[in-house]
Amino acid sequence: MDTHPLSHKRPSKLDRFWFGAPYYPEHWTAEERRNDAQWMQEAGFNLVRMAEFAWDRMEPTEGVFEFGFFDEVIAELGAQGIQTLLCTPTATPPRWLTRKHPDMLRVDANGKRMEHGSRQHACYTHPAFREHSRRITRAMAKHYRDNPNVVGWQTDNEFHCLFSETYTASAERMFQAFLAKHYRFDIQSLNQAWGTAFWSQSYLGFEDIPLPKPNHPWPPNPGHWLDYKRFLSHAITCFQREQINILRATNPKWWILHNGIFGDIDYRGAFGEDLDILGYDYYPMFEVDPRTRKDSGAFNLDRARALCGNFFIPEHQTSGGGQNPFYTPGPEPGETRLISYQSIAHGADSLMYFRWRSCRVGAEQYWNGIIGHDNVRRRHYREIQQTGQEMRKLEPELLGSHVHIDCAVASGDLDVSAGGEAMRLGMRPESHYAEQAHQWLHRHGYQVGCVHPQDDLSDLKLYIIPHWTVFDPQWTPALKTWVEAGGTLVVGARTATRDLNNRVISETPPGCLRELCGVKVVESGRAPAGGRSFGIEANGEELETVEDYYEKIEVDKGVEVLGTWTDRFLAGSPFMTLRTTGKGHVIYIAGHLSGSVLNLCLPSALDASHCKPLRSTDNEWVEIVERRKRDARLWFVLNHHAQQSFSVKLPAGVDLLAGTCIQEGEQDLEPFGVRVLRLASDR
Ligand code: GAL
Repeated sequence: MDTHPLSHKRPSKLDRFWFGAPYYPEHWTAEERRNDAQWMQEAGFNLVRMAEFAWDRMEPTEGVFEFGFFDEVIAELGAQGIQTLLCTPTATPPRWLTRKHPDMLRVDANGKRMEHGSRQHACYTHPAFREHSRRITRAMAKHYRDNPNVVGWQTDNEFHCLFSETYTASAERMFQAFLAKHYRFDIQSLNQAWGTAFWSQSYLGFEDIPLPKPNHPWPPNPGHWLDYKRFLSHAITCFQREQINILRATNPKWWILHNGIFGDIDYRGAFGEDLDILGYDYYPMFEVDPRTRKDSGAFNLDRARALCGNFFIPEHQTSGGGQNPFYTPGPEPGETRLISYQSIAHGADSLMYFRWRSCRVGAEQYWNGIIGHDNVRRRHYREIQQTGQEMRKLEPELLGSHVHIDCAVASGDLDVSAGGEAMRLGMRPESHYAEQAHQWLHRHGYQVGCVHPQDDLSDLKLYIIPHWTVFDPQWTPALKTWVEAGGTLVVGARTATRDLNNRVISETPPGCLRELCGVKVVESGRAPAGGRSFGIEANGEELETVEDYYEKIEVDKGVEVLGTWTDRFLAGSPFMTLRTTGKGHVIYIAGHLSGSVLNLCLPSALDASHCKPLRSTDNEWVEIVERRKRDARLWFVLNHHAQQSFSVKLPAGVDLLAGTCIQEGEQDLEPFGVRVLRLASDR
């Protein structure tokens, strides 16, 4: 099978583990910065990221470039062995530029134009903005071409972080051109794809097509909406590519990343292919409940890895932080180091802590950094310093390795998320159910990740496709081959019921997966709540209420029924079925894969797939994740509890942080404790 170039198993090509922080020297006086380079060096830094919001410092007025300030800082850091990742500063176009071209300011769906005074205020499709983006990129690239301390670039900062939609006139023109190309200049083909006969929407030419606006009026045509989201991804990819082309042409040795991950960008498409490595900004403390944080963190990290393989973390939460209107809790002592190891375990090949020093000015005064507002080093610094020293020991083991998983949920497709969004019908997105299933498996100690159906499934024993209503029939043959070779596939209700134009399919559902699943959906609808809800029964257990949705299905010959609906007109109708084909199995679930349904269904899927957890299933606070490089196996054993120690059964191996050999058996793991174990080769 051809492996997708951005496989979840792709290790990074970085030649070292980069470790450092985003740094904003422009916020500080020379006196305040006096110790920075030395303190960074003592913390084990080899990289800082700079300049993503410093356009006005580098070009205070049009055409007047002043790089002297950054030159000096880069040189001072370089003298301490710390290199620089520069950024194109296009997330914050300066005032002289927005004054000159007020129509480059973004417009929201209500027609309101953004104002200068925050960030991400320009529209990426605006020709003048694009021209100035190329100009500043060219000027920076030329200036730093031969600077040995500049090793790489970040494009812009967090595209689509605040919102992705844009409704400027230039966006509309570019959207029309995008559609014309996509539909080969044949307007009838667009009318056909979108089904514009409905509500008299047919178009006579591409120049007639507006940008779809939520609530103006709502709902828009689902094909129109999906193509708009594809266009937003295309527009940002073009904008980024212009910068990347300039950087690569100037110095091909530079490596280039972008820090995500946000909506309406097809990271697994051209956007990700253009980069050397994808960045993922990781702020796990947005999940305020420590009980679930380790599971939601694992899901988010795995979701990032599903897009392009191992990733870079340009911003890793260091401390508590916020800006109006929120303030997240902060990691307790030992927790910043612990979550750093969680990130690495799940595929981070470099780490930078947001940010070097807490800032006293601007909208992010309380996004706390490594060093306090008073310029004093305290516990966060010391913890990061310890982690930095440890990274030097681990670096050779980490680079070139990939995260090993044997079960996964489907994730990472723009058409699926954007198409689903247009037809949410008051229900939750497929990503919610993917997260629920992922967290269930993670909580029970399984080696679970996120994988796109087009990716390499070869190591997987269990694969769950939650409720991907939009589904590409081209994914089916590889799934079939994988199942026949021994995989267990779980397919949730509503999957494969819509096509790539976001229209309901004409075949009986689940359409292109019908034969593989061995079921036929003959009726479906919203499950009523209250006194008339539907229950299910499976594995000798009953569940009184199944959330949201039901399907009435019929099964093909030879398909086993593992669970049934229990009420009224559904009573006795299959809820969970099992088809055996080749060496594998397909389980179909005729409802949503939510909380208690998972308790009933996943044990059957795990039985069929022979997946085994890495630890006893009842110790929810301990996480074990494996990275592999050829025959070498690294285990990250992490205790997420702030106060309690646990005894964990571990195999024989070398404890890489302690530098000692351990025998197979129970090992104590202190609160927020971390072990990195290279397993003995005879295992
Ligand atoms: C990121 C962003 C940073 C900073 C940080 C803390 O999303 O890239 O510039 O805003 O969050 O809010």
